[in-house]
Amino acid sequence: MTAASAKARHADLAAQIRVHDHAYYVLARPTISDREYDRLYHELLELERQWPELVTPDSPSQRVGGAPLAEFRPVRHAQPMQSLDNTYSQAEVKEFVGRIQRLLPGEPLEWCVEPKIDGVAVSLRYENGRLAVAATRGDGTTGDDITANLRTIRSVPLVLAHPRSELASRSAPGGTAKTGEECRRPTQGDLFGAGAAGGAGQAGPIPRVLEVRGEVFLGKAGFARLNEEREALGEEPFANPRNATAGSLKQLDPRIVAARPLDIVLYGLGHVEGVRAPATQIELLDWLRALGLRTPQPRWLCRSLDELFEAIASLEGQRRDFAYQTDGAVIKLNSVALRARCGSTSKAPRWAIAYKYAAEQAQTRLNAITIQVGRTGALTPVAELEPVFLSGSTISRATLHNEEELRRKDIRLGDWVVIEKAGEVIPAVVGVVLERRNGHEKQFEFPRSCPECKSKVSRGSVLGEAGVVWRCVNPDCPAKIRGRIEHWCSRGAMDIEGGGEVLVAQLVRNGLVRDVADLYRLRLDELAALERMGEKSARNFLAAIEASKRRELSRLIFGLGILHVGARVAKSLARRFATLDDLMRAGQEHLTATEDVGEIIAASVYQWCSDAENRRLIERLRKAGLSFESTAFQAGSGRGPFAGKSFVLTGTLPTLTREQATAKIEALGGRVSGSVSKKTDFVLAGADPGSKLAKAQKLGVRIIDEAEFRRLGGAG
Ligand code: IVH
Repeated sequence: MTAASAKARHADLAAQIRVHDHAYYVLARPTISDREYDRLYHELLELERQWPELVTPDSPSQRVGGAPLAEFRPVRHAQPMQSLDNTYSQAEVKEFVGRIQRLLPGEPLEWCVEPKIDGVAVSLRYENGRLAVAATRGDGTTGDDITANLRTIRSVPLVLAHPRSELASRSAPGGTAKTGEECRRPTQGDLFGAGAAGGAGQAGPIPRVLEVRGEVFLGKAGFARLNEEREALGEEPFANPRNATAGSLKQLDPRIVAARPLDIVLYGLGHVEGVRAPATQIELLDWLRALGLRTPQPRWLCRSLDELFEAIASLEGQRRDFAYQTDGAVIKLNSVALRARCGSTSKAPRWAIAYKYAAEQAQTRLNAITIQVGRTGALTPVAELEPVFLSGSTISRATLHNEEELRRKDIRLGDWVVIEKAGEVIPAVVGVVLERRNGHEKQFEFPRSCPECKSKVSRGSVLGEAGVVWRCVNPDCPAKIRGRIEHWCSRGAMDIEGGGEVLVAQLVRNGLVRDVADLYRLRLDELAALERMGEKSARNFLAAIEASKRRELSRLIFGLGILHVGARVAKSLARRFATLDDLMRAGQEHLTATEDVGEIIAASVYQWCSDAENRRLIERLRKAGLSFESTAFQAGSGRGPFAGKSFVLTGTLPTLTREQATAKIEALGGRVSGSVSKKTDFVLAGADPGSKLAKAQKLGVRIIDEAEFRRLGGAG
């Protein structure tokens, strides 16, 4: 065999194997026998043994990569990965639809309903049709690079389906089309989306860049098998398929992942280049399917509330028979153009919502109620339960939320209670089984002092919160101190390895640390003298503390534990302010002009920064040598024609999508915010603008169109 014919034969075998993999793993319609498939696969391996140069990264033989990784590389998503808001009743779905109708007056609305797969969100990036990167969601902006792990999943194509002509010409040179027919390879109709609603299902050109989002999951059978194997090996079984999936994707050794029967479904787009993205969700699903990707099935196109309810009910009737776990239905506005006009909140788009099916419930005895004191001093009652098995795990504790909740549900010690596990939330007590009362149940007296420090508790309303939560008023309450320090050390904040519950409790108990600034004064001798702490661990902990001094500003801001400032808001603040000092000085208006920051968050940040005690803390952190500079700072950096300028987008632009316009503004030094204020420099308006235009006119903010925007940006 010549090199040229080996190459041609290899290409043909690879194409055939891809087609069969697609038929088997994506369409679940195998077209050849396992033996026949093995024959093709071994011929390919044999060719690669003889001609090693044929081993390309996307050869079907290269699914399980080489050595285990030392760690996952961070990957920035070209477009952030969002989550979904949840609803639990028809009334809430109706409200959601009403909201969208008000946002889009007069528009006839169409919806796509899909199963909500209970797995782990991932983003795949294909470049010129080849799988380039696979990443976890992470914090939505940056995830972990899990490409090696995702490559082991057979329903993840390493190469996207080619348009008809290309595939045909690929098999031609070796003259092996006949072999293909003998192997009963699926018709191209299968590969290009037969069964998908509407159209011939041709993929069209392959996008230069395709970021596609979906869910990795373990099927019910695969999960059961995996747990049996683990138990046989004496290992701890996984609590549920989602934990097993998450645990699998965290493996640094792809060979372990390859042994887990993971699967994928893709339902959304991120960044796309080189083709026009589909105009509707239904078209998107068909397109993805035509590209060889597995999409959620079944899905419904609905035009009214009644049709939505029908689809939701129909899915609920079927879902128990699905091969994988679903926990709800996802309702998405079908039209992509209309979605852009709805926008999104800091976590989720406004144009989609999840309808969660009722969670599985169980009954058990309430043995005791304990009170937990959190870092904000909130007293949370916790139910100590007779252990009971529910949806895959044993439950012995559940949250009771607050005193009002206890009263409202009339929960008494010794009661039989109904508990449920709704998705990922901690199990909750939903109510009492009155018929099982025997008269010996006792009322629980909610404490009127902090169980931790015996100080007074109060429940005045806190910013943005009704006054139902009792809080310990003592700023020096050890539970609060511990909570604040644990939060500071946590992975999402300053990421100080070793600073977990046990050590932090020890540090506080021994009077070594009272606030986060004290961490930076810890000495080796006093640490090493702690119980169960050797010199080596003490040194490691000190090194971790030292390393935290150089963390990005957003982590520091998050670590401060300011009410309502989560990781995402902290990031926005670090983009908006060049240094912590700028943030400390900022007025409320300045704060509200920050992305993701509304009135309540702004007031909370402002209050925190005005507090003398907090200001002293910041000074001590400065003296300890922590970096207050924001590396993420974008505006006013002095570069780019839009440096320091803030933009608000409204309406549909003639050529740029919202995302493209945002990317341009940011690349040129400016920033985009969600709402118009006096601080807004420009409102970039297109067709059918929303109320933002009127507001801009009222405030006298400069309004520009796309042409002027391009001129100002110095581009054509
Ligand atoms: S769409 C911007 N569709 O559920 C909208 N999500 O609870 C992004 N999920 O983060 C999500 N099935 O990880 C969408 N058919 C589906 C889904 C789905 C499962 C996951 C996804 C999302 C989470 C929200």
